[in-house]
Amino acid sequence: MAETTLENQKSETNPETATFVRPGSEQDSRKGEIPKAADVPLETINPAWNRLFQEDRQWEYFERLRAESPVHFNESEVAGRYWSLTRYDDIKAVDIDHENFSSAHGITLGFPVGQPLPDGALNISLFIAMDPPKHDVQRKTVSPVVSPRNLAGMEALIRERTASVLDDLPIGEEFNWVEKVSVELTTRMLATLFDFPYEERHKLTRWSDVATAVPGGGIIETEQQRREELVECLAYFTEIWKERKENPTGDFVSMLAHGEETKDMEPLEFLGNLILLIVGGNDTTRNSMSGGVLALNQFPDEYDKLRNNQELIPNMVAEIIRWQTPLAYMRRTANKDVTIRDKEIKAGDQLLMWYLSGNRDESVFENANKLIIDRHNARNHLSFGFGIHRCMGNRLAELQLRVLWEEIMKRFHKVEVVGPVERTFSSFVKGYTELPVVLHKL
Ligand code: HEM
Repeated sequence: MAETTLENQKSETNPETATFVRPGSEQDSRKGEIPKAADVPLETINPAWNRLFQEDRQWEYFERLRAESPVHFNESEVAGRYWSLTRYDDIKAVDIDHENFSSAHGITLGFPVGQPLPDGALNISLFIAMDPPKHDVQRKTVSPVVSPRNLAGMEALIRERTASVLDDLPIGEEFNWVEKVSVELTTRMLATLFDFPYEERHKLTRWSDVATAVPGGGIIETEQQRREELVECLAYFTEIWKERKENPTGDFVSMLAHGEETKDMEPLEFLGNLILLIVGGNDTTRNSMSGGVLALNQFPDEYDKLRNNQELIPNMVAEIIRWQTPLAYMRRTANKDVTIRDKEIKAGDQLLMWYLSGNRDESVFENANKLIIDRHNARNHLSFGFGIHRCMGNRLAELQLRVLWEEIMKRFHKVEVVGPVERTFSSFVKGYTELPVVLHKL
C-alpha cells in the first residue's frame, strides 16, 4: 500500500469547493407536511426521499408503487435516470443477474454513469461495488473471518459481551435502547473483528455513521466534513495495517494486509474495504437490535408467543430482519438496454431494488406488515440480498441477534417501549436514533 496515501488525498481536490448535492438529497429541501400517497400524481412519486423514512411514511408510497407502478421511473438533475423496483420477484431477478446489472457504478443512488465526480467527492473503492472478477477475489480474501468455524469460536465471546451490557442496564428506569444496547454491542463486536484498541472503539461507530450519513441530518454538516473524517479513518487504519503487516493477529486488517490479492491495495481501495466491513457490521445489526424491540412492542401477542416458546428465537431473528430491512435498497446499473415488465430500461440507467418494499409484498409474505415470529417463510426475506453480493456477514448478524434475544429472555419479562421513536434521516439506512424503553425484570 502506498505510504503517501494522505498526501495524495489532500492534493486531489480543493477543500474550499468540496460541497455538492448528493444524489438522493434532492428532495431534502421539501418542507411542510408529507402528502398522502393517494393524493399525489403517480409520476411525481419519488421514494428516494429521506424524510419519508424519518417520518415512517414510506409504506403507503411503496404500497401504491407495488400496485400501480412496480417498475417506476424518476429522473433528477443530480442523479439522472433511475428506476424503483418494488415487487419481490423483480427485485430478486435483478439481484441475481450480475451480468446485466452491474454493481461497479455504486450501490446507492449516485451520479449519472460516466459523469466525472464533483470536486470533494471521495471516490472510495469497495468490493460490494465491484463486478467479477475483482469482486470475487476480494470477497474470497476477507470472507474467512466470518466462516462458520470462526463464528462458532466467537459465540462465547459474543455471549459474554452481550451479558455484560445487559447486566449493566438500569431496571425500571427509562433509557435509550439504541445508545445503551444496540450501539454499544455492535461497537464491541467491531472492536473484536478488527482487533481495534478497545478504549478507542467508539471511533469505529463514528466512522460508520459518518460514511453513510446525509449532510445536515444530524451527524455531519457537509461533504467536506465526511471527507476529513474518513481521511482520518484511513490514517488510523494505515498505522494498524503497518503493525499487522509485522504481527498478524487474524483480524480483518491482518487478512487484508497479508492476502495475496489484497496486500498491494491502493489506499482508497483499502479504505473502501474497511468501511464496508465497519458499516456492514454496524448500522445494520444495530438497527435490527432496536427494530426487534420495537416490533415486539407493536405486536404484543408475538411477545407472548416468544415468552411461551424460546425455541422460536432463530426464526424470529430472520423475521425481525425481514420486518426491519436495515438497508432499504441496493442499487444496480443496467449494462445494456433491457425490458422489465413493460418498461424499457436503457444502458446506464440506475435501478433501486427496494428490499424494504419486496419484504412487504403480500404475494410472498401474508399479512406482511405484521411481525410473525413463527412465519414459515421468514428466511426468504430480501434483506441480505441475493446472488454474488449476498451479505457476507449474514451469519454473524444472525448470531449476534440470536444471542441477544436469548440473553434478554433470561433476564427481562419485558423491554417496554415507553416513548416516541426517532428514526434515521435516510432512505438507505433504515434505522433508529431514539428508542426509549423501561426494563421489567422476570
Ligand atoms: C442484519 C444485518 C445485515 C444486513 C441486513 C445486511 C445487508 C446487506 C446487503 C443488503 C448487502 C448487499 C447485497 C446485494 O447487493 O445483493 C450486504 C453486503 C455485505 N455485507 Fe451485510 N448486512 C448485515 C450485516 C453484516 C455484517 C455483520 C457484516 C460484517 C462482516 C456485513 C458485511 C457485508 C459485506 C462485506 C457485504 C458485501 C458482500 C459482497 O459484495 O460480496 N454485513 N449486506
